[in-house]
Amino acid sequence: MTLQVQTGTQNEILRTKSKPVRQVNGELRHFALDMIKTMEAEKGVGLAAPQVGRNIRMIVCKLNPGEHNEVVVPMINPEILSESKAKQMGEEGCLSLPGDWGQVERSKSILLRFMNLKGKQQTLELSDFNAVVVQHEIDHLNGVLFTDHVKELKHASASGGRHI
Ligand code: CO
Repeated sequence: MTLQVQTGTQNEILRTKSKPVRQVNGELRHFALDMIKTMEAEKGVGLAAPQVGRNIRMIVCKLNPGEHNEVVVPMINPEILSESKAKQMGEEGCLSLPGDWGQVERSKSILLRFMNLKGKQQTLELSDFNAVVVQHEIDHLNGVLFTDHVKELKHASASGGRHI
């Protein structure tokens, strides 16, 4: 089942800090699969639970999009353990803010910890666009939208238009 995407910079659900997931069970796994279906249907490369109406700390991310090693990873209670001093600037858009685009500064690489759908802790080092996607999604869990970081908002994509 695809889920309805919450939109708008003043949307109360999008602006609420989400709570940690306490139990990884069948209901949560089912919800994660619906999040993946929704992300794919909307042609996004990432989606956070509050974007589909639930203030819990779960995200799904498409890593290496369009590459031979493309993979969709659901992440429960994701946490950035460390991040590079080096930064990158890149264009972002968001399924919750259709039509808005802007340049955002993010860390170039991050060390990430999360739980998978089996309840196992994982760590992962990500860089470049993969690191952007995860930083954007974790912002959603904290009630932060990419437009909060943008100096100049555009209404068209300059770089292919991938919604995060
Ligand atoms: Co977004």
